[in-house]
Amino acid sequence: MTEAGSSAQPRAALPIEQLRAQFPALSQQINGQPLIYLDNAATVQKPRCVLDAVLRCYTESCANVHRGAHTLAERASEGYERARGAVQRLLHAASAQEIVFTSGCTAAINLVANGWGNRHVGSGDEILVTGLEHHSNLLPWQELCRRRGATLRSVPLDPQGQLDLQSYERLLGPRTRLVAVAHVSNALGTLNPIAELARRAHAAGALILVDGAQAVARCPVNVAELGSDFYTFSAHKLYAPFGLGVLHARAELLSDMEPLVTGGGMVELVEAERASYTAPPGRFEAGTPNLSAALGLERAILWLQALGLERVQAHEQDLLGYAREQLAALPGVRLLGGGPALGVVSLMVGSVHAHDVSTVLDRSGIAVRAGHHCAQPVMRHFGVPATVRASFAVYNTRAEIDALARGLERVREIFGG
Ligand code: ALA
Repeated sequence: MTEAGSSAQPRAALPIEQLRAQFPALSQQINGQPLIYLDNAATVQKPRCVLDAVLRCYTESCANVHRGAHTLAERASEGYERARGAVQRLLHAASAQEIVFTSGCTAAINLVANGWGNRHVGSGDEILVTGLEHHSNLLPWQELCRRRGATLRSVPLDPQGQLDLQSYERLLGPRTRLVAVAHVSNALGTLNPIAELARRAHAAGALILVDGAQAVARCPVNVAELGSDFYTFSAHKLYAPFGLGVLHARAELLSDMEPLVTGGGMVELVEAERASYTAPPGRFEAGTPNLSAALGLERAILWLQALGLERVQAHEQDLLGYAREQLAALPGVRLLGGGPALGVVSLMVGSVHAHDVSTVLDRSGIAVRAGHHCAQPVMRHFGVPATVRASFAVYNTRAEIDALARGLERVREIFGG
């Protein structure tokens, strides 16, 4: 972590000004002020090269993937599979055939909860989630347990919002089939010790699914080193378009899953009354694939890798350390969570409602998220209905955190929080 308390960027930092110039959205004014975008856990802005890749898709290779032999169709199919290869290399997966494209991270988790869960979870079995999960990594497991007569258990949090690892050990049992856990919490930024959680899950005979939505654009991810069995994320949080998600699953797990959606593009042989399905990943990708988003994702991955994910992580850690220090020093501001974290700071300003805080900040052009962040159990743990969440990306600066601090001071002046 670099020296905190100064708004100068750390040495060996990313070339921020040059980098910011690549994002058309960042040059706009909001309410007469330059946009300060701190809602990156919800979605990030997109660099010009990604926007260009999407446009190029529609101008140069607009054809349906895996459905034709003409030149445009071949270009489309090659581009789509190239994108799959880029994801494989990003995650260090064993093979591109272990990468399934879905419509988002939520769809990827639902695919596992249904496609794997319906086959492998039965009455009396247990699924272990944590008190940190986004609803996307909670509700699919609630539904699976309801359907299959299984039991859902949840790892409690300590006062800092970290997982209680002793409880985790105690809750893992011979009936635990799967642990479902966020790599980084969207509500608090908590960075979970995935390799350790995976090691313990495997020792208990369970699999582990990691929701990587908030991690994959913020730090290097190596699924082999983490030991995850399933890893999921959304393209739009990785500087890429909306409408595309990724499921990585080990090959033997994918080949023992049933498809959630059936239709064109996932079959070998179809008769009037029966059909046989292609091998994974195609088996899980019925319907016309989202080619433009896949090509945007490929471009975003190459762009991020050129920046260097280690440097990106160092930058985000610097911002988080600086934000925690500056914001915690403000009278009336309470930060929620602590300990190892990445990219997110969650706070309250006295008893001022989070939505009011967000509205005041917006008048100064500062975008944050206010609410329960689709993580109501986390809010319940801290006894609050909602928080203000500032979340960072590669293009954010310490100066923007200073502006956020000034904005929070204005909130106190207005509401007396
Ligand atoms: N999951 C996104 C968030 O945390 C939408 O804001």
